[in-house]
Amino acid sequence: MIRHIIAAIATLLALWAAYFLYTIDATSQKMKQIEGVIAKSRVKVHLNNNSITPIKKKSETNLQEERKKADEEVQKKLKALRERAGSAMAFKVSPLYKQKCSSCHGVNGKGIVGPKLIGKSEEYVYRALTDFKSGKRKNYVMYGLLTKMSDEDLKALSKEISTFEAKMKEAAAQ
Ligand code: HEC
Repeated sequence: MIRHIIAAIATLLALWAAYFLYTIDATSQKMKQIEGVIAKSRVKVHLNNNSITPIKKKSETNLQEERKKADEEVQKKLKALRERAGSAMAFKVSPLYKQKCSSCHGVNGKGIVGPKLIGKSEEYVYRALTDFKSGKRKNYVMYGLLTKMSDEDLKALSKEISTFEAKMKEAAAQ
């Protein structure tokens, strides 16, 4: 009789243990499913929502914005200064310089939006131009402009700009 009772209790215990294990397993399965759903929804957020997309992209758009702002600033200054600067030309410059550079550096290199170029050596100017063009020296305006110009043009301009100082003095002496 006692044996029967013990056997029954043991069976019940075994059943209970089995059930317990089963519920734990089921719970962990559910947790896994939930985790899976969460993981999927994360991916979706990444794909669909630009505001959560990688930091890289953000800084790219920041750069573009900065660039746009800088360009607008230059354009504004240019407009104001063009009106004021007039065309007080002391000596003649090449059509290339006049067309591409004078709006910012002045008809004779005195500088407006861009810095003064008078008195700079051929080597210095050429170095500056090639550095802007290669991106070693960072300036969006000069970079954008120079990407479309040949090395010959840069050399010719460097040479010409290096003569500005002497030409200026000559013009002043007259
Ligand atoms: C839209 C305006 C703009 C135009 C057009 C422009 N520049 Fe510039 N340039 C600048 C600005 C702004 C700087 C200053 C950039 C810096 O120092 O980072 C600069 C810098 C320079 C410098 C370096 C000066 C220094 O002191 O180091 C040289 C050389 C130069 N430009 C030559 C030229 C030549 C040659 C052209 C024509 C092909 C030209 N630029 C056209 C705006 C302009």
